[in-house]
Amino acid sequence: MQNPIEVFAIRSRRITRFAAGVVLGAGLFCASGSPSFLGAQTAPASINFDQVTMVFRLDASGTTYVMGVNEHGALQTLYWGKRLAAHDRFAAAKSEPNYALDVSETITLQEYTGWGGALYVEPDLKISYPDGNRDLVLKYVSNTFDGDTLHIVMKDIDRDVFVTLEYKIDEGTGILRRSSTIENRTRAPLVVEQAMSGTWNLPRATDYRLRYLSGRWAGEDNINELPLQPGKTVLESRRGTSGPQKNPWFAIDHKGATEESGDVWFGALGWSSSWQLSVEQDSAQQVRVTGGFNSFDFGYRLKPGERLVTPPFYGGYSAKGMGEASRLMHRFQVDALLPHLGDSTGPKLRPVLYNSWEATEFRVEEPGQMALAEKAASIGVERFVMDDGWFGQRKDDHAGLGDWYVNKQKFPNGLKPLIDKVHSLNMSFGLWVEPEMVNPDSDLYRRHPDWVLNFPGRPRSEGRNQLVLNLARPDVRAYVFGFLDKLLSENDIAFFKWDYNRHWTEPGWDAAGPENEKKVYVEFIRNYYSVMEELRKKHPQVEIESCSSGGGRVDMGVMQYTDEVWTSDNTDAFDRLTIQNGFSYAYAPAVMMAWVTDSPTWVNYRNLSLEYRFLSSMQGSLGIGANLNKWTPEDFSKAKAMVAQYKKIRETVQRGSLYRILKPENGSEQSLTESVSRDGKQAAVFAFLHSSRELYPFPRIYLQGLDDNAMYSLTAFAGKLAPDTPSSASGSYWMHHGFDTELRGDFQAAGFTLERTTP
Ligand code: GLA
Repeated sequence: MQNPIEVFAIRSRRITRFAAGVVLGAGLFCASGSPSFLGAQTAPASINFDQVTMVFRLDASGTTYVMGVNEHGALQTLYWGKRLAAHDRFAAAKSEPNYALDVSETITLQEYTGWGGALYVEPDLKISYPDGNRDLVLKYVSNTFDGDTLHIVMKDIDRDVFVTLEYKIDEGTGILRRSSTIENRTRAPLVVEQAMSGTWNLPRATDYRLRYLSGRWAGEDNINELPLQPGKTVLESRRGTSGPQKNPWFAIDHKGATEESGDVWFGALGWSSSWQLSVEQDSAQQVRVTGGFNSFDFGYRLKPGERLVTPPFYGGYSAKGMGEASRLMHRFQVDALLPHLGDSTGPKLRPVLYNSWEATEFRVEEPGQMALAEKAASIGVERFVMDDGWFGQRKDDHAGLGDWYVNKQKFPNGLKPLIDKVHSLNMSFGLWVEPEMVNPDSDLYRRHPDWVLNFPGRPRSEGRNQLVLNLARPDVRAYVFGFLDKLLSENDIAFFKWDYNRHWTEPGWDAAGPENEKKVYVEFIRNYYSVMEELRKKHPQVEIESCSSGGGRVDMGVMQYTDEVWTSDNTDAFDRLTIQNGFSYAYAPAVMMAWVTDSPTWVNYRNLSLEYRFLSSMQGSLGIGANLNKWTPEDFSKAKAMVAQYKKIRETVQRGSLYRILKPENGSEQSLTESVSRDGKQAAVFAFLHSSRELYPFPRIYLQGLDDNAMYSLTAFAGKLAPDTPSSASGSYWMHHGFDTELRGDFQAAGFTLERTTP
């Protein structure tokens, strides 16, 4: 007789297949004994399928996800939340009964719905056939396991439209990666009018609250909260890039979960073009989050035999509040998403870089850049990046984009002398590029006016005096790959800052023909990813930063191909506390590039001490963007000390666990973060005060994430501790008794480290 239960244990990314009795009896779900990064002991991950009840169960880290095929053949969500006992069993899925005007399909929580039948809630897939039929009802067909991935095949009740749902579970965090592949096996073409990656269904309950990120140029990553009530909230981008107006991330907590406790479900789309997240509370008060390609103006034609793959949609669960939800995202990004550059222990630690933009803007030339490079090297900078202005006839933002040859007036002997100089100073060299853009005043545009996104005969709106090259076109892709490859082949370039300073308008793709024109929404970004993938394959040491007028292209799609992101053009170190706080909800400090720039800043004309500016930037990946020609000897020596200090704690900041202890939200006067290293041996603490008021002291600092019984020594590397602070105490003491810092005045900051002194 066939064994009714198939269980797959995922160990070290390898899958072992067991017979059910053996597995359960042999304690497959026992604690593995290896301490997890987040401090808990976790059982191994597994995927389990019960062929009798038709229930699928995925377990990893602290999370269990369960779904089942119901009596109508629909795939129904049964559970998503805290990890359950291995012996907990689920009955077969059973659809909800019809309820007044809402029939079963619309009330039953399904994993992936076609628009058809009696569905009123947001569908995952909507198609139209050439005969005018638009009805699509998807039913379970089969499933397969492949490594740590489960595939479930669904099909329309009549026509040969297939959808394969993919579920991949991450052992370290329990984060699930979902996507769907839509395949036309009929004999005629069809048009996909809406394609989502999947729907996350929350447990049936009320009192949910949504958090999401919104922003604008120089004001990215504001965190917003919204109670979920009947109705639908749609978060989206229609701009051909992921942000910054909204970011494709969400978190939903239950009953007012806090930073430290309570249930939080969270997720993010891995897509860098127009996207959509619909958060819907239906008439039965159930909450569903459906996400994927933006359905506005969408229309992807599939010929017989063709397929469309949706973006990945990641989702996770935290039983320990919002802080843990963020730490799970950070860990997943560092361990399972970012490029690893051949180092199996994780992505490369980010080097301290210098960037010339705020110092010189477009006025780059050989002697000036060399002088800056010397000064940058003297304070311990490891990478020198030349920003905009080195190519074509680029004097300002009116001309030159698209002409990627070195400007001979500025660099008479090409880039080599500057690169050699940078190398002689023991730094690597990085270069700014904006590959998908063109100025109408450029040789490229004069040669290929048809290469830009536009509708022929209609106006072409400009933004920052530039147009968007249609990277979906094979010739544009070849041009972009060609010049980037040439730059890397002819020069020793370690890093591209890949910019994107204009959103889409008039997204016409005439050459594709009317039937395929709207494919631009997908093919453009697929080519963007594939250019980076191919470049990285051919030049394995190259690293890339994603920039889009600051943080306009930060998402889990681009993070598969880039090593860091530019957080914001706003480099005011006080404003940055808010931006970086919002950023940290969804994305890892490791990728959060933060420069120390001049004071007063161009943004707010605010004066901040150099120490304050450093401490603000040291919470992420440290860079320097100041005009070093204006610095005093005291500035240089302070900067040298701070860079040296950063190098001592960067692994903790970039790979450790982040605790947002005092959040710069709702007008708070203080901000305080703590990062604890993965091995638990070090913690780094950053404290900021906007203004003292009415004689109140800075709040006492209660740390988190330490070992109660271990001893830690505390040092202030910036600012002062209260005189009675012990130099060494237990983890319990630092977490429960706490310590005081003497921060008083306006725009004050302090930095502390704790080193564990006992095993
Ligand atoms: C964008 C980037 C900046 C800088 C300029 C150059 O605004 O965000 O950091 O590179 O472009 O033009």
